[in-house]
Amino acid sequence: MNTKKVLLILSMGVFICGFALIDQPDQKLSESIKRGQVLYNGYCAGCHKADGTGYPNHRLKTPPLAHADYLLDTKEKPIEALVFGLDGKIIVNGEEYDRSMPAVDWTDEEISDVLNYARNSWGNKGEYISEKEVQKIRKRD
Ligand code: HEC
Repeated sequence: MNTKKVLLILSMGVFICGFALIDQPDQKLSESIKRGQVLYNGYCAGCHKADGTGYPNHRLKTPPLAHADYLLDTKEKPIEALVFGLDGKIIVNGEEYDRSMPAVDWTDEEISDVLNYARNSWGNKGEYISEKEVQKIRKRD
């Protein structure tokens, strides 16, 4: 093999590895979303509906998650809502809600998964939430 060939093969290797590295966060997110979907449909959908629209006009008055500013604008607020529960008045998309949601007794990973699912479904687009970010907020209390 001459030097040129070796260099070519080496640079292809670097190129492919580079792509694999760039691709990693996306893959992490899509795997988290997949796990989160199962959790969501098994628990959250009962109150927020499978399509994330909630029951804003029903007696239950649960807020929507689809296109919800509360869920999408920050990572902290939805993490806090699940880790500590949510009570009292909140505003979601300009609409007032005053009910209560119990805290979820799940692992940090499960909470990040279900939020990654909700923040990336029904037209939502949200940055990846890691297990560590959930842990940080849990420890703050
Ligand atoms: C027992 C019913 C119930 C269940 C189950 C439930 N929620 Fe909620 N959720 C509520 C209610 C009610 C509120 C509004 C609380 C308030 O008015 O302060 C809320 C608020 C929220 C909010 C903040 C407001 C918004 O619309 O963005 C998020 C995010 C949320 N829930 C996500 C979830 C996720 C994810 C799950 C599953 C892990 C879940 N909820 C399970 C009833 C529920």
